[in-house]
Amino acid sequence: MAPASKPKTDEDWRALRFEANRIFTPSTPISVAQLFAGRSSQINSLLDTVAERGRHAIVYGEPGVGKTSLAQIIQHIVPTNAERIKYVRKSAVSSDNYSTIWMSIFKELHFLADLGEGEKRYPISDLYKDGVTPSDVVRELAFFGEDLIPIIVIDEYNLIKDKDSSRQMAETIKAVSDASVNVTIIIVGISDTVENLIDGHASIGRCSEEVLMPRMNSHEMQLLIESRMIGLGMKINGDAKWKIINLSKGLPAFAHSLGKGAVLSAIDTRKMSVTEYNVDHAIETILGGSQNTLKMDYEQAIRSNQERARFRQILTACALADTDESGYFTPKQVQAPLANILKKPIGIDGFNPNLKELASAKRGNVLQQIGSERIFRYRFASPAMQPFVIMKGMQDGFLDEKAKSALSAPEQGTLFSNEL
Ligand SMILES: Nc1ncnc2c1ncn2[C@@H]1O[C@H](COP(=O)(O)OP(=O)(O)O)[C@@H](O)[C@H]1O
Ligand SMILES: [Mg+2]
Repeated sequence: MAPASKPKTDEDWRALRFEANRIFTPSTPISVAQLFAGRSSQINSLLDTVAERGRHAIVYGEPGVGKTSLAQIIQHIVPTNAERIKYVRKSAVSSDNYSTIWMSIFKELHFLADLGEGEKRYPISDLYKDGVTPSDVVRELAFFGEDLIPIIVIDEYNLIKDKDSSRQMAETIKAVSDASVNVTIIIVGISDTVENLIDGHASIGRCSEEVLMPRMNSHEMQLLIESRMIGLGMKINGDAKWKIINLSKGLPAFAHSLGKGAVLSAIDTRKMSVTEYNVDHAIETILGGSQNTLKMDYEQAIRSNQERARFRQILTACALADTDESGYFTPKQVQAPLANILKKPIGIDGFNPNLKELASAKRGNVLQQIGSERIFRYRFASPAMQPFVIMKGMQDGFLDEKAKSALSAPEQGTLFSNEL
């Protein structure tokens, strides 16, 4: 547990450092309900779904917003005795199909039988050597006792490209619902829409709860940071906190890595309160880290032999552009931040071809392009790239004082306006 008062000995400081490394989890989903911040409306939707017989859920959204975490902690939040919960979670891989997914779920569900060695537990998968069909699944799921609350989560569903499998999954959910089977199936995956995640989703519209996981709002981000500071018995000042929140763009993993970096920087100087200086130190550490795939993707996107190529500046302007709620921006929206960085006016034609190139394989498809020639819109293919590019832009000196001070202010200036 966190020390109640300021650490005295080296050993105390080491213990605090250890605890800080434990409660900031930039690269793993949350599995403990107490460390899960905010998201009360999504939690309530899932709880309602679990409670109501015949209802199932589809959790969807951008990568890195906290879908897996939500699907994991829900089992601990259902207000009942823990023994009643029967929770199975399976992460799909791209080689999976309907049958392989359910076979791996069936490995974790058991039946009791006496096959001559006394009564023993056997995995249901033992009964299906040749794989399973939707009718097998519906039949097996009907065996859960009435006293149980079974929850089955199928995560990373977007990796399943086989349309037949996806249709069979929709059929299964419909059949399980129609038969009022005592089980809740939760499908989780990266997608902007439910239609794109599940083929045949129309047939399950009435029996499924669609839970969109948006980016975290600034209140949830504050909770994420403050609860951890309290856990450590440490403090963080406003500028430092808002800098973390504004840079993270609603993506919790960044709040974790910046928060952790800043806390460790404070601890290393034997301080119990975190300041903006510590956050800046964390940014340097993140940008300097060599094991960073973002860094490699970034280098590929901006690489150039030409003196005058301005991919670095243009990408930074993209990261600062106003966006719609799905993260898309137009060339027009890049214009003002780019002019600001270049310190001179620039016409759209002056960088439009570069935007197209950033959305091509040559630049690692760092941007995604939609729409038609006259109204192309773009967004970062990986949401995490946006905060990374802003941090790089800071390091490269592309942000003027006004922009930098907007970063540590509670309300973002328009230059950084996203949804936070
Ligand atoms: N509500 C939350 N509170 C604190 N941290 C969170 C929360 N949701 C997600 N995280 C953190 O954010 C990162 C991404 O979470 P994850 O559940 O893996 O997202 P997704 O499944 O949407 O890609 C992880 O580092 C996780 O620890
Ligand atoms: Mg996930």
